[in-house]
Amino acid sequence: MADARKRLEMETRRGPIGSASPHDSAAKQVAGEAIYIDDIAEPAGLVHACLGLAQIAHGRLISLDLAPVRAASGVLAVLTAEDIPGANDISSTHRHDEPVFATETILHHGQPLFAVVAVTRDQARRAAMLAKAVYEEAKPNLDVAAARAAGGDLVTDPLKLERGDVAGALAASPRRLKGSMAIGGQDHFYLEGQIALAIPGEDEDMLVHSSTQHPSEVQHMVAAVLGVGSHAVTIEVRRMGGGFGGKETQSNLFAVVAALAARKLKRPVKLRPDRDDDMVITGKRHDFVCDYEIGFDDAGHILAVDAVYAARCGWNADLSGPVTDRALFHMDNCYFYPAVRGRSEPLRTHTVSNTAFRGFGGPQGMVGAERFIEEVAYATGLDPLEVRKRNLYGDAGRDVTPYHQQVEDNIAGHVIAELERSCDYRARQAAIREVNRTSKVIKRGIALTPVKFGISFTATWYNQAGALVHVYTDGTVMLNHGGTEMGQGLYIKVAQVVAHSFGIPLDQVKITATTTGKVPNTSATAASSGSDLNGMAALDACETIKQRLTAFAAERWQVAPEAVAFLPGCVRIGAQEMSFAELVAAAYMGRVQLSATGFYATPKIHWDRKAGRGHPFYYFAYGAAAAEVAIDTLTGEYKVERVDILHDCGTSLNPAIDKGQIEGGFIQGMGWLTTEELVWDEKGRLRTHAPSTYKIPVASDRPRIFNVALLENAPNREPTIHRSKAVGEPPLMLAISVLHALSDAVASVGDYRVCPRLDAPATPERVLDAVERVRAEAAP
Ligand code: MTE
Ligand code: MOS
Repeated sequence: MADARKRLEMETRRGPIGSASPHDSAAKQVAGEAIYIDDIAEPAGLVHACLGLAQIAHGRLISLDLAPVRAASGVLAVLTAEDIPGANDISSTHRHDEPVFATETILHHGQPLFAVVAVTRDQARRAAMLAKAVYEEAKPNLDVAAARAAGGDLVTDPLKLERGDVAGALAASPRRLKGSMAIGGQDHFYLEGQIALAIPGEDEDMLVHSSTQHPSEVQHMVAAVLGVGSHAVTIEVRRMGGGFGGKETQSNLFAVVAALAARKLKRPVKLRPDRDDDMVITGKRHDFVCDYEIGFDDAGHILAVDAVYAARCGWNADLSGPVTDRALFHMDNCYFYPAVRGRSEPLRTHTVSNTAFRGFGGPQGMVGAERFIEEVAYATGLDPLEVRKRNLYGDAGRDVTPYHQQVEDNIAGHVIAELERSCDYRARQAAIREVNRTSKVIKRGIALTPVKFGISFTATWYNQAGALVHVYTDGTVMLNHGGTEMGQGLYIKVAQVVAHSFGIPLDQVKITATTTGKVPNTSATAASSGSDLNGMAALDACETIKQRLTAFAAERWQVAPEAVAFLPGCVRIGAQEMSFAELVAAAYMGRVQLSATGFYATPKIHWDRKAGRGHPFYYFAYGAAAAEVAIDTLTGEYKVERVDILHDCGTSLNPAIDKGQIEGGFIQGMGWLTTEELVWDEKGRLRTHAPSTYKIPVASDRPRIFNVALLENAPNREPTIHRSKAVGEPPLMLAISVLHALSDAVASVGDYRVCPRLDAPATPERVLDAVERVRAEAAP
């Protein structure tokens, strides 16, 4: 007993907070033992659904002959809009612009028209192809240019941010320039695709295992489509094999169709589209066109920015409003603009409904900001990093964002300086310029870019969370909260918070699946705020239980409540010590409630969208990256040779998890800005709908030298959970350094006199094109 106590004390003294505990699923994932929805033992009578998709991008459905589908082997049911007992609508906004099944109007190629249910998945897929649809085709507007040419129909209200006299400041600027940049979209390419398994219960009950970041919304959608109350529907998700924003709203469709089929057939139904259908049906990262005008002086100071961010939103609103808003919220990145105007243009197009994707529009806004810097650098002949530093947010008078929030926690200058020193930036830059002078074909490039990312949902009411903590009489703990696990390590972080609070080892805390039946009315696990919100809610529940235990112990052992302390490995009550389990067992006998809910709502934040003013973000997360690349000027091919990152996680809850988020986010961002290119043909068919045509980074694309460090001694100045900072999305934007390193390499062919204006993604074709353009422009 004494030995066990000592070991426990040792284990917990290191403290579950800040310890690099491995991800709770890591070993199980590697061993194939982690259970994803398709691994759940199939219930008796399970059948399979498949969606039938529109084969035009825009037009009218004249007729749909489903008789051949019904007659196909193994088919049990065919479902159309007519089979929906509730609403034929899964719009996540109040706009009601997203039917489950199209009835007459077709708004994108791949829009679901019907579902077929068959005994096997293969039978369902074969049957779905037998439908005979007759269409009246209309011209599709596929991209920003086409949507603008057709009159610029918007899916949602645009946003305008404005501060200062922009026209006056532009007119008074010694120098001005105008430009435009295309910023590409991105497919989520989660390794586990969309999937739902619906199991009908008695009465109207429905249990759906859904791979979703937003169980509460799936619950509401299933209830609305089935025409039942939310209390009849339970959504459960143990883990996702990646979400990246692609399962924030896009999982609704699959869950409601599985539930609809399960209701109709009174049998369990699974819907798992194959990768091609998944990519053709679901929304992606918004691609943008950013048109800008900048006023500046010869010393590289930006004096005014006027920019329009136009986005391809697809066929319905979905999250396009908040995504395009967040693009504007990041059009400043780390830089102060004395006068600024930003406008969003969320355009309706006849393509998939673009949606949340890691960074949620922020990355696109920030890519614009870094282009502004680059323009000014080349126009003035100054070094881009020098221009970056000269424009950073600063003291009073230089600390207000375009949305009128004061930047109170600015550490961008410090992070840049630290990284510049630790990665030997200046010496390497000089060496690269030297090598480029004599190297004919291979040119090297280097760039250092910072990140400042706003943390909080801009929809203020989303910034709330609930938790449920049970303590059992043996001292073990069951933890449930509203956050979902998609690989980002949320579950282990919140478990660490709970273990730390009670002073028990991590393995005494059971991590359980997220379910709407335990914690209701939850927000999507998104906006990087999962651990901020759910960590606090879980801590709140622990505090409640500890208060009850304290009151009990004080009474039972006749000590002051202040003499009761939950220490690592034991509870001290006056002069005596006992294990947490011993105290809990005694408290149970004393009829003390050992279960509690917890709740948290983020303080300080508010946002007035109409006025374009407020304090939408609780705090900012910072980081910086330096990337070095080599390009082949004959082919445009390139390699990312070395990357150094310094990133701010506040006081990290778990450095191992955070480092993983930084590496993964960076690589995903690098894919977005380099090789991942989405191509629709003139008929609006997505041509890049499989890994054969859509190139995400693989292990060999990892930079040969990849140094990742967490900023030390940098506690969050706000009282977040243990002073940590959100880490899920910000590191993706560190990859902007790769785009600018490529640009730097391209610029070498014009002796660094011509701005390369490299659009994203910087595919080898684009790099080659830029090399030739810069060469031609620089020629005397
Ligand atoms: N990391 C992994 N491994 N898989 C994911 O799907 N999603 C990202 C990020 N990191 C994701 C991930 C996105 S888009 C967000 S918003 C956050 O994780 C969500 O989790 P958090 O709020 O707990 O950080
Ligand atoms: Mo992340 S894009 O907020 O799901």
